[in-house]
Amino acid sequence: MANHEEQFKKLVSHAKEYGFIFPSSEIYDGLAAVYDYAQYGVELKKNIRDYWWKSMVQMHENIVGIDSGIFMHPTIWKASGHVDAFNDPMIDNKDSKKRYRADVLIEDHCAKIEAKIEKEIEKAAKKYGEAFDKEEFVKTNPRVLENARKIQEISHRMNHDLEVNDLADLKRLIEELEIVCPVSGTRNWTEIRQFNLMFSTKVGSVSDEANTIYLRPETAQGIFVNFLNVQKTGRMKIPFGIAQTGKAFRNEIVARQFIFRMREFEQMEMQFFCAPGTEMQWFEYWKKERMRWHLSLGMPESAYRFHDHEKLAHYANAATDIEFDFMFGFKELEGIHSRTDYDLSRHQEFSGKKIQYFDSDRDESYVPYVVETSIGLDRMCLAVLSQAYTEERLEDGSERVVMRIPAKIAPCKVAVLPLVKKDGMPEKAREILRDLQPLFMCQYDEKDAIGRRYRRQDAIGTPFCVTVDTDTMNDDTVTVRERDTMRQERVPVKEIAAYVAEKTR
Ligand code: GAP
Repeated sequence: MANHEEQFKKLVSHAKEYGFIFPSSEIYDGLAAVYDYAQYGVELKKNIRDYWWKSMVQMHENIVGIDSGIFMHPTIWKASGHVDAFNDPMIDNKDSKKRYRADVLIEDHCAKIEAKIEKEIEKAAKKYGEAFDKEEFVKTNPRVLENARKIQEISHRMNHDLEVNDLADLKRLIEELEIVCPVSGTRNWTEIRQFNLMFSTKVGSVSDEANTIYLRPETAQGIFVNFLNVQKTGRMKIPFGIAQTGKAFRNEIVARQFIFRMREFEQMEMQFFCAPGTEMQWFEYWKKERMRWHLSLGMPESAYRFHDHEKLAHYANAATDIEFDFMFGFKELEGIHSRTDYDLSRHQEFSGKKIQYFDSDRDESYVPYVVETSIGLDRMCLAVLSQAYTEERLEDGSERVVMRIPAKIAPCKVAVLPLVKKDGMPEKAREILRDLQPLFMCQYDEKDAIGRRYRRQDAIGTPFCVTVDTDTMNDDTVTVRERDTMRQERVPVKEIAAYVAEKTR
């Protein structure tokens, strides 16, 4: 674990040092849980967004995209349930004046018990060496069993309290577990209260309650309220989908783990409208399709798993998370939810407008059912970056950090480097660069020795370096060096574009 924490810290500082992600407002000491995408981060993010859009919209004749406003009519958030139920249970420590999410305090406590189990296993593994059978040990060791039982009991009680909104018992649990404030070290807690996660602001010049509007906490509602517009103007036949990417805002109290949980983030969502009774078939379809998308990027299968929800939100009849093995463990990357006809029915009720679809095949009108796929773009960037970050010791004893970002989404596809700054090489390199620029994000670099320039490109994940050398001036070929294998091959100048295009598709 310590090793993973160390790796994660290194990734965060690499992301800053090499121009992927900066803390927001850094010269003013930063703004918690907000980050800025730097010159390479913004390219990576755009490439992931484009890859998603291509696969969801361009490759599906029955899915179209929209871009709705961040501000929407405030009643939308009453209809969606966000005004009443989009809450986190918060508790304050009276001494430090720090506020915490009650469930996170309890989860952190469980993580400490979990760490004890891990230690026990480590100790036994050392003691018994080769003969150690971890599975058997975990099943039989009394201390491990006792700690596992404790975690299960605590989680069960916490989940029950959250489900029935028993905040008094949730506080009792914190007291019984003798959880202390990490800052003051005391157990001087307030009562637990529910805090809404939506940011609000005022429209117009009069600041009264009636003018309160919200910054959207998800992009999905912009799709639901445009269902009829899109269906009619696009003459869409069910089943069909509407996709959207864009910013969402949540006043997350526990914001940590870098860009994993932010207050301002971007979602890529698709709502798939289908006939009642067919939603489970589409739920299964989208589960497979979305996992296929992740793997088609070149991400390793072993870093993914599904986590089916046992407890479902009141409007859902099936839900699963696609979890990714981040450096801090398996965590939700994407959600796939079968949301029934809940959202459209609620908007029908609250707006007083009929939101129905006439199905000529069935010869009936109904409120369509919805299967949603929802992925956080920033989380996907983090998944790609954590997967890509590699420290390597080379044969000559030197070290390199290489970002093994899948070539098709790498921020910069090709770097053009003159071997030396003379003999016409820079001019030739710039000529090649000008030919490649309309096709790919490129870089030109003539500073320092060639080895250092390769390292700089490795650190930002550029899959190909094109080097112009003395031979180029004679036979119009260049050396193309591949990032991961560092293998080099000679390629005619007129074939570079096709070569790079083929390998970064
Ligand atoms: N429309 C459904 C919805 O919003 P969600 O599970 O709350 O569902 C979907 O969010 C995805 O959005 C998550 O799987 C995650 O990738 C991303 N996400 C949610 N909250 C986030 C946050 N505070 N920071 C970054 N990404 C977040």
